[in-house]
Amino acid sequence: MISQAIIEELKIRCPIEDVISSYVTLKRAGSNHLGLCPFHSEKTPSFTVFSASSSFYCFGCGAGGDVISFIMRAENLDYRDALEFLAKRAGITLPDDRARDERGVSRKRLYEMNTAAAKFFRSALFESDAGGEARNYLTRRGLSQAVIRRFGLGFADGEFGSLRDHLKSCGFTDEEIIAGFLCKRSEKNGSLYDIFRNRVMFPIIDTSGNIVAFGGRVLDDSLPKYLNSSDTPAFNKRRNLFALNYARSACSEQLILCEGYMDVIALHEAGFENAVATLGTAITPDQARLIAKYTKKVIISYDSDDAGQRAADKAFRLLADVGLDAKILKVEDAKDPDEYIRKFGPEKFSELLGRSRTRFEFTVSRITSEHDMSNDEERVKAIRRICAYIADLPSSVEREIYSAKLAEMMELDIENIKRDIAYTIKRKKAEKKKEDHDRLIRDTMGISDRVNPDFAKRPLAARLEEAVLGMILSHLEYLSSPVDGKPLSSDDLCTEFGKKLFSFIKDAHENGGFEFGQLSEGFSQDEVSRAMKLFLAREKLLDNGPGVFSENVRRLRENAVSSGDGIDDIARLISKKRSE
Ligand code: CTP
Ligand code: MN
Repeated sequence: MISQAIIEELKIRCPIEDVISSYVTLKRAGSNHLGLCPFHSEKTPSFTVFSASSSFYCFGCGAGGDVISFIMRAENLDYRDALEFLAKRAGITLPDDRARDERGVSRKRLYEMNTAAAKFFRSALFESDAGGEARNYLTRRGLSQAVIRRFGLGFADGEFGSLRDHLKSCGFTDEEIIAGFLCKRSEKNGSLYDIFRNRVMFPIIDTSGNIVAFGGRVLDDSLPKYLNSSDTPAFNKRRNLFALNYARSACSEQLILCEGYMDVIALHEAGFENAVATLGTAITPDQARLIAKYTKKVIISYDSDDAGQRAADKAFRLLADVGLDAKILKVEDAKDPDEYIRKFGPEKFSELLGRSRTRFEFTVSRITSEHDMSNDEERVKAIRRICAYIADLPSSVEREIYSAKLAEMMELDIENIKRDIAYTIKRKKAEKKKEDHDRLIRDTMGISDRVNPDFAKRPLAARLEEAVLGMILSHLEYLSSPVDGKPLSSDDLCTEFGKKLFSFIKDAHENGGFEFGQLSEGFSQDEVSRAMKLFLAREKLLDNGPGVFSENVRRLRENAVSSGDGIDDIARLISKKRSE
């Protein structure tokens, strides 16, 4: 654990406004700064940087924290790497206990272990008899020696202990091998066995060149076709992309987003070195943000089947959310880009790229293909769906342009289209208002609270607890000030989240001092954001004096004794909300 003194030093050398200014254009607003939130899309700024408390909070999406949590989110880093990132920026070196994560395994060791494993798989592919079949398989699929080597492909043989024995001989411990998802422990006899067997191995390499995980493909039609590393201390499949290590320097103009490893490799082989793929899941917001760091334009190049086209819809949405310009290419007469290139060659693929369509064109053709456009009723249905799509676009300029296009395509009067769209927007607004209202009720009752699911059980006590924790976050001295003879203890609190937060703060305070940044080490980003919200909720109020603190603690304790019934609490809260 990095000492609190170092975190303080880091924060002094990296003023939060300075750091955030490299990501967000900030405008001064009173003693704070305001800008457009980088973590969700918005048109009016609700992202606030508080200079006095060196923190940020977005009143739109609830993201919040200090400069460390900001970097964790913005750069997709874990706590430890965010510290390194800031240290580098400030020109200081962190003490090298880059050691162990909570599972007792260091990331660096996992990288080393994966490198050892990749070499082992590679020599099995090229040099062993058992690798012959895999070599033939890859050749049959049209991969050249050069591309096989470039991607570091390998082969895991059919034995249960080949890799295990090799890694052990390299000095890796059982614990490390298991944590890195290379072996599992047998329930029968307790010994380790290899997870990847009889598979072609695809190393997954991050943008710093570390081998972070593996995907393994069978050589025949058996299932599962692919086996991928689960998340490990060194790998998160939702935050990495296959081949981004190569594509990053070839994609400044545009990036090609595929579904499969084989698609990416075929594209690179054909000279399209700007291709990447997700890792066995649909694209995530983290991956969209990662892509946005390297390019402005994405060509979605998914499989031609139904699943691929549905996935494309989601990709369009997430890419637009991070401000990327996206288009989609239609693979014709082949099931995926890999097969297309094998059949028709790179030039034809280039032509496909040139013919890629906008989201609007894609949506219109998808919807019209689902209706019989020669039938009036069906035609109306299709047009209604397209209007609903246009109504959803955030920019009125876009809505105007696409309304005109639609009118032209369907040979209708644009005024009618505009009226329909205006009507849809109005209806959606009303729906949203109702949803917001319902959510408010749910939130008041705590039912939809993922961070603090206990809130619902004791809403009244939980509210008091939040007030108390919020005050403690801004007045650490309250931790030791007695109320009716004894200071607050975690037994006074009523939710698991509250207890955990309290114990963490108290512990840190007693062992060298508490810094908001330390929270990122023991809590999820959502939990850190919640803590920030509690803190700000109190900061905004005028009086957080000792008297107010004591009063809240007292009421919290009374509430615990009277063990107020959850249902009564809820009824009281609702009637209070109504009268507000
Ligand atoms: N995938 C997976 N697990 C599976 C099937 C697929 O993780 N059981 C992931 C892999 O990342 C794969 C991608 O989904 O690359 C796309 O799947 P698919 O199109 O079936 O794979 P291809 O890469 O096209 O492989 P191939 O051409 O060898 O069939
Ligand atoms: Mn394929």
